[in-house]
Amino acid sequence: MKEYKNYQLKGNNTFGIPALCDKFIGYAGVNDLKELYEQHVFDKQWMSVGCGANLLFCGDYHGTIIHSTAKEIHILEENEKNLLVRADAGIILDDFIAQAVSNGWGGMENLSAIPSSVGAAPVQNVGAYGVEAKDVVERVHVFDTRDGSTRTLSNEECKFGYRDSLFKANPQYVVISVELRLTKAKNHQLHLDYGNLRSSLPADISLEGEDVLKEIRDAVLRIRHDKLPDPADIGSAGSFFKNPVVDRSVVDRLLIDYPKMPFYEMENGYKIPAGWLIEQAGWKGMKRETVGVYEKQSLVLVNLGGATGYDVWDLAQSIVASIQEKFGIGISPEVIKVPN
Ligand code: EPU
Repeated sequence: MKEYKNYQLKGNNTFGIPALCDKFIGYAGVNDLKELYEQHVFDKQWMSVGCGANLLFCGDYHGTIIHSTAKEIHILEENEKNLLVRADAGIILDDFIAQAVSNGWGGMENLSAIPSSVGAAPVQNVGAYGVEAKDVVERVHVFDTRDGSTRTLSNEECKFGYRDSLFKANPQYVVISVELRLTKAKNHQLHLDYGNLRSSLPADISLEGEDVLKEIRDAVLRIRHDKLPDPADIGSAGSFFKNPVVDRSVVDRLLIDYPKMPFYEMENGYKIPAGWLIEQAGWKGMKRETVGVYEKQSLVLVNLGGATGYDVWDLAQSIVASIQEKFGIGISPEVIKVPN
């Protein structure tokens, strides 16, 4: 285990915002977590951070941050159609996806380049281009910081929702590893119907061919590169807000003034893209000193250099108020403010 005091978190959040935490601990697995439990680390203020791709630090964090450094991958089951892989929480999600694609394991190629660790993927139920973590997660192994025990939760027990899971309301669970059910050649279930994904694939692609996973991954990487900032160059946390889900009556009211408004039917209502609402309200590409709204995707707030968490949060609050005023719709952050 590695332990640092007064640790600078600027490199541990994709916004690139400076903040200190009292203690930062890199742990390798369950035995380390048990040791931390014995040391009563979980009796005081603590939180688990993966890549910090969904966090906004507003001020210093007066507590302990734990961070998984476990990176092993094990095949638990394999047959001619699919396989079950157990991946440790500390693996960078896209490193795992790159390896899965090159091994011919299907199911996660649409999630390429999402900034996340494997451990954070089920917590946030990360998703992109018609696929969510819940589609491939079979079980999640967790450490219960209340009593030092370990537990395994089935997909159903994880209570996955849109950018949501049981883990969000139960921060006592630290994800140790995730079991993923992936497909083998001729058994892939490809998801190509989101946006321009299908039309971004080479015209002569064979959907049964050996290269199909790589072609989909490459197409997703191209689409993301065109629309989303690379956290290595521009600080952001991907989508800052969730897309609101509203009643049909709200859709009908808005269609009168905005007949071209995009909306999508969901199980529990209608999703209106927050990026569209924000663009219509005139925020796209707007810059406010150190922060701004990304010029190619209004759902993404960016650190233009030297931003504090408060700068980002103030901009977000102004956007929320303006969407409420213009459309009568409340949008809420996907990003978690720390401390909240
Ligand atoms: N749109 C606009 N203006 C904008 C942005 C979007 O009009 O500035 C419209 C688009 O034209 C399109 C619709 O909004 O009709 C949806 O846009 P997009 O396909 O870019 O998806 P999104 O709803 O804005 C969601 C996820 C992204 C994910 C993409 C693709 C959320 C909060 N965000 O964005 O996830 O990559 O779909 O699947 O659900 C993330 O969570 O950090 C993230 C990047």
